[in-house]
Amino acid sequence: EFDADDAISIVEEHKHLEGPLLPILHAFSHRYGHIGDEAVRVIAGELNLTRAEVYGVVSFYHDFKREPHGRHVLKVCRAEACQAAGGDAVADALEQALGVKIGETSADGAVTLEAVYCLGLCATAPSAMLDDRIVGRLNEARVQKLAAEARL
Ligand code: FES
Repeated sequence: EFDADDAISIVEEHKHLEGPLLPILHAFSHRYGHIGDEAVRVIAGELNLTRAEVYGVVSFYHDFKREPHGRHVLKVCRAEACQAAGGDAVADALEQALGVKIGETSADGAVTLEAVYCLGLCATAPSAMLDDRIVGRLNEARVQKLAAEARL
């Protein structure tokens, strides 16, 4: 949970650094898992930056999430070998089954669907990863099973 006092103390810990913004963003990301609007407001206020400046840096680095993640993260491979093996249909089917687009989190907070570019499992394409578990040779039946697990 976001807590303004806690957030201010994170900023204060790093404020003395030269170029404190990135270390502060990393600390927020580590602490909260994402960098939301309130966090941006606190950081901008404490560092005398505009919110637009802070948002600019947050969106430049893909490591920083703007939204909280779902309980599960399902990464579907969108790289070439998987595409050639029917990855587009798999991605579409997952979006349909979960009711979210790639890059979104389901409204109940169960799952975030993300694209990934090669999981190193091209031999078992099309592949995906649910949390830390790799799933290969995705076909219609496996997609439905995977989606059901991701919704839990
Ligand atoms: Fe999908 Fe390598 S291209 S795992």
